[in-house]
Parts: sequence; structure tokens; C-alpha cells
Amino acid sequence: MAATKSPIVDIHTHVYPPSYISLLKSRSSIPYIRSFPPSSSLRLVILPAEDTESTSRGRPVGAEYYEIAEKIKFMDVHGIDISVISLANPWLDWVPADEAAEAARSINDEVDRECAKYPGRLFAFATLPLSGGRDVIVREIERLKTLTYMRGVILGTTGLGKGLDDPELRPIFKALQDAQLPIFLHPHYGLPGSVWGEQAGDYGHVLPLALGFPMETTIAVTRMILAGVFEEVPELQMILAHSGGTLPFLAGRIESCMEHDGHLKAEGKLGKGRKTVWDVLKKNIYLDAVIYGDVGLKAAIQASGEDRIMFGTDHPFFPPLGEEDEKWLSVETNYEGIKKALGTDTEGAKAALGGNAVRVLNLSI
Ligand code: URA
Ligand code: ZN
Repeated sequence: MAATKSPIVDIHTHVYPPSYISLLKSRSSIPYIRSFPPSSSLRLVILPAEDTESTSRGRPVGAEYYEIAEKIKFMDVHGIDISVISLANPWLDWVPADEAAEAARSINDEVDRECAKYPGRLFAFATLPLSGGRDVIVREIERLKTLTYMRGVILGTTGLGKGLDDPELRPIFKALQDAQLPIFLHPHYGLPGSVWGEQAGDYGHVLPLALGFPMETTIAVTRMILAGVFEEVPELQMILAHSGGTLPFLAGRIESCMEHDGHLKAEGKLGKGRKTVWDVLKKNIYLDAVIYGDVGLKAAIQASGEDRIMFGTDHPFFPPLGEEDEKWLSVETNYEGIKKALGTDTEGAKAALGGNAVRVLNLSI
């Protein structure tokens, strides 16, 4: 019997739908798109750390950011069968409260329609109207069930403005748990600019992207663990960007600091029934494989298990700097990391490359 090819699924891949691009072009504070004369080419400026006077201001923005046909072209070049697309950061975090409900509805509908253009090849993580408040958010979560291609939500680390350990977020996590919609947790804000020092302008985007993003994710999830979110919402499922930041590597240290903390003990937070960091990693967390190396990926696999790793590309970010390259170095490096950590054609490699995503996100139509 001929072996059926196991699918390759990219769960970390972004778009800014055309209407969002129009909004960005109308703005002059981050997030925005504009040209900087004398150059006429457009640049996308989204990160606080990249809104500088230097040449590292934003990045060139072209059709790969908003044309869905470009996504399919990219998938075909890199052997990707299915993509689970998500709005790129900073999502709708900046939208005024009274516009949030309508903005989320129209973006989610637009993304769903984009998926429908390529049935079976595209699914999506929806965007939540975070600035609209609890009731608006819960209503949108319930509405998502009526959309054909939505398989979860993408979320930043600020929640309602106070972070993901905010007790006010608990009903939203419960609504996501009940709707069986996993959260794709993605960083945006990084760390305060002061940690990068006075020479930061000489280093391009390296420090905020390589270190700020992963630390932001690590801190956000650790605060959720400390707040007892995973005991209170026990079936909440989260897919962490960039292999969980540094969570797999630091899990033992976080756990030990908790076990040795007199305040937590006195507050009764270390008793029986507590989920350890290791428990959370194995029961509530999936990790993408966007870590560009087998060493980090092996830590992710050891922390959460081969059945909880999912391939990603972060397209359209991290394009090759040489225009002649058809295949993207960033994607090839992630493929290579999976090959080195899990082999080729092994059950573990097939699961990480697509099997886990198909199972967990129910990627059939
Ligand atoms: N830079 C971003 O702002 N977002 C990503 O997803 C990747 C790089
Ligand atoms: Zn990303």
C-alpha cells in the first residue's frame, strides 16, 4: 500500500488583511505604514523599539504582508500544505474601545473569507476586540463558532491592559476553554527600551526580536502560572510562539523559586492540587517550532512532549536579505532544526511538521 504523505502545517504565519493595511496607512503613530523621503518605498513600523530615526525604522512592506495569493505562493515554494494564518501584531490592541467590536468582527470575517478562497489550505486564528471589554470579547468568542475556518485566537501579552494574570481575564479564558478555542500567544511589546542600552540604535532589530519577544512570552505565562490560571481554567489550551520563549529552558528554575518562596507558602499557594510548571507545560501548552535550532527545540520537546510541537515559519517576517533567494533561510533553518532534533520521516518529525496541528486544531473541512 502506498504511504500517504503526512501534511506539513504552518501554524505561525501572519497576514495583515487589506482593510487593516488601509488603517495602518491612515495613522502616524505606531502601528503605521508610510514612506520616509527621499525614499518612496513604504515601511511598516509596529514595534516600540523600531520607531527610531535610524535606518532600522520599521521594515519594507510589500504584497507578501497582505495578498493571500502571496501566502499560497510562499507555501508552495516551501512545501507547506496548510497554513493557520493570524493577524500580525499589534492586532487590535490600539483600537478605541467603542470601535473594537466592529473592528474585530470585520477583520475576522475578512480573514475567514480569505481562507475560503483556498479551501483546505488555509485556516485561521481570530483576533479579539480586547479594548472593548469583557462582554464584547465574550460575544465575539461565541460568534467565532459560526465562522468556518477559525481554529483559535491569537493573543498578545497585555490582555485587558494589565497582563494575562489579571483576574478580569478569567471569564474570557473560561469562554475560550468552553468554546474549545486554543490561544496562540504571541509577543509584541518586548522589554522596556532602557534594557538595550545607549548603543541599541546600532544593532538593528536583533535585541528586541531575539531577546525581548521570548522574555515577554516567558514572563506572561509565568505570571499566569503564579496566578493559578491553569488550576481555575484547567482545560485552557495555549500554543506559545517561539517555542515558549525561554519557558522550557527556565521551567526548573521557575518551579524551584516557587517551591522556595515563603510568601507563596504562607498564602497557601504551594499545597496539594497545584499544577507545577512541568504539569502546565504537558497539559495546557503547545509549543511552536520557531526557534531556529535543534538545541532549543529539544528543550521544547523535553518540556512538553513530541505530541505538543507544531511547525511554523513566522512568514512574512524574516525574509531573506538577498533578493535572489527563492527559499527563505529562516524557514530552511526551522526545517533543519526539526530534522536534527527528531530525524527525517520519524513519527516525531511527522507530528511536529503537521500531524499535531491537524489533530489539535481539527484541520479538515
Ligand atoms: N516581528 C514582528 O513584529 N512580529 C513577528 O511575528 C515577527 C517579527
Ligand atoms: Zn509571529
